Amino acid sequence: MDKDRISANENIDAALRLDGDPVNVRAFYEDWAANYDQDITLAEYSGPIIAARLLQRHLPDPAARLLDAGCGTGLVGSELHALGYRAIEGFDLSESMAERARAGGAYRQLLGGIDMMQAADSYDADSYDAVLSVGVFTLGHVPPQALQVLLGMARPGGLLVVSTRTHYYDQTGYRQLVDRLISEKRMTLVEAVMDAPYNKDGEGHYWVFRKSA
Ligand SMILES: C[S@@+](CC[C@H](N)C(=O)[O-])C[C@H]1O[C@@H](n2cnc3c(N)ncnc32)[C@H](O)[C@@H]1O
Repeated sequence: MDKDRISANENIDAALRLDGDPVNVRAFYEDWAANYDQDITLAEYSGPIIAARLLQRHLPDPAARLLDAGCGTGLVGSELHALGYRAIEGFDLSESMAERARAGGAYRQLLGGIDMMQAADSYDADSYDAVLSVGVFTLGHVPPQALQVLLGMARPGGLLVVSTRTHYYDQTGYRQLVDRLISEKRMTLVEAVMDAPYNKDGEGHYWVFRKSA
């Protein structure tokens, strides 16, 4: 593999080189949607199952109202559904990715064409028992500030479950933002699972936060 490659998989490598512009990110995922599941399976992606089990550990109520932010083709919803959750909603920037999630049948509501940074325009504040975002806080996708948008949609006392690729954590201001939100008492850290399996290219961190009441 070329030493400058981040991933041996051409599409995963290209995804990590996106520029974070929602127009470009959306176009990229519209093209990748048909092959996403296959590529990601070959890459041994474990984010969805790890995040779903983390949620279950801290919120085992199958009736909990959940929002999967950046749901992609629905891998997180499928894991949550298999664990018994039934009130799962989701959105994604890409219509084609969301369409595949819709076909999976795990979600009771799905919206495509939603930019996470603007999601507060489409969702009520203080609503969800938990908001999950897996595989989205990754280079070239969303800025750390998207965490504040997700926090706004969780109900007081509700949870956020987020994955970060290690290089995202190392190269963005994610940690500084988390520290600030905690010091401002807007949320608490419930659990951080550091250097955990993510895919065969590298590890990730998984975070559970609780929105302050
Ligand atoms: C690597 S995929 C992860 C999808 C899914 N959560 C999973 O774990 O398989 C990243 C997803 O984030 C979505 N995404 C990227 N930027 C976004 C944004 N600003 N708003 C909403 N979704 C976004 C992409 O369209 C894509 O479906």
